Amino acid sequence: MSQRSLREIVKAMFPAGKGLLAADESTKSSSKRLDPIGVPSTPENRRRFRELYLSAPGVEQYMSGVILVDETLRQTDSLGVPFPKSLADRGIVPGIKVDGGTKDLPGFPEESMTEGLDGLADRLKEYADLGAEFAKWRAVIRIGKDIPSDACIRLNAVSLAIYALRCQEAGIVPMVEPEVLLSGSHTMEVAEQVTTRTLKTVIDTMRLFRVDLSCAVMKTSMIVPGDTSGQVASPDHVAEATARCLRATIPDEMGGVVFLSGGQTSEQATLNLNAIAKLGPYPWPVTFCYARALQYPALEIWAGKDELLPEARTAFLERLKANAAASMGHFG
Ligand code: 13P
Repeated sequence: MSQRSLREIVKAMFPAGKGLLAADESTKSSSKRLDPIGVPSTPENRRRFRELYLSAPGVEQYMSGVILVDETLRQTDSLGVPFPKSLADRGIVPGIKVDGGTKDLPGFPEESMTEGLDGLADRLKEYADLGAEFAKWRAVIRIGKDIPSDACIRLNAVSLAIYALRCQEAGIVPMVEPEVLLSGSHTMEVAEQVTTRTLKTVIDTMRLFRVDLSCAVMKTSMIVPGDTSGQVASPDHVAEATARCLRATIPDEMGGVVFLSGGQTSEQATLNLNAIAKLGPYPWPVTFCYARALQYPALEIWAGKDELLPEARTAFLERLKANAAASMGHFG
C-alpha cells in the first residue's frame, strides 16, 4: 500500500503545468492500435508499445501520472525495472484501470453497463502492493434517439460510486470516468445537456455513498458536437460550454478534473484544453488525461521499429509539452 495519503496522491497528480497519459487500452484495443502499423499484438510487443511512451526521456517534465493495465503493471522496462517503480522513481504517479469493460444493458438497446465490481477489493489490494496509487473506472454513456436512459446513467453512477469507495478503502485515489461518447449526430447543445445530467447524477450518487470527493478525480468528456452532426465548434465555443457544464456540476471540494480526448484530433484536444484553461481558474485543478491524442503521432512514426524510437519519442514529447502548456492556457 502507498505510503502517501489519498490527499498527497491527488496533489502529486495535479502539479501546475503537467497532465496524465492514459496507457490503459485493453488487450483488444491494443490490437486495434498495433494491427494498422503491422505489429502483432503479443505481450512483448505490447510491452514495447507501452515503453515507447513510459521510458521516453524527459516525460516527467510534463507528465504527472499514467494509467496502466494489469499486464503493464506487472511488466518491466528494457532495463528490467518494473514499470510502476520506474515511473514512481521519476515522480510520475502510477495508476491502474480496474473496470472489466462494458456489457450490453439488458432491455436498453445500445446502452451499456460497466462490469468489474466482483472481487474488486482484493484486486485493489494487490494493485496497491504493486505500486498503483490511483485507479480508473470507465462507464460509457451513448447519445442517440431516446438515450441515454435514466436507468443507464443511474446504474453506471452507482457502480462508479461503489468502485470509488473500494478504492479509497484500499488507499487508492479513484478516477471516476463517465464518458459521454462523441459518436453520433447530436448537436453540441445536446452533448451539454447529457453531460450535465450525467455528471450531476454521478456526483449525487457519490455523495449518497459517502465517497470523499476531495480525494477523488473526475474524468470527463469535453462538450463537443457529435462526430456525424456536421456541426463544427471553435475552441472558444467548446470551452464556454465545457466550463459552464463543469461549474454547474462539480462541487468545489472535488480533488481534480481531467479530460479524455474521446476521438478528437491531437490538435483539437490541445486547442480545446487551452481555451478551457483560459476560462479558469476553477475551484479544482484541471488538466488532460489523454490516450489517443497523445499517442497517435508517435505510434505512426514508430511502427514497431526500434531505430525509429527516438523520432517517435520526440513526437510524443511534443504532444505532451503542447498539452502541458495548454493545461495552463499558455499554448501558442
Ligand atoms: P482517449 O483520450 O483516447 O479518449 O482515452 C482516454 C481514456 O482513458 C478513455 O477511457
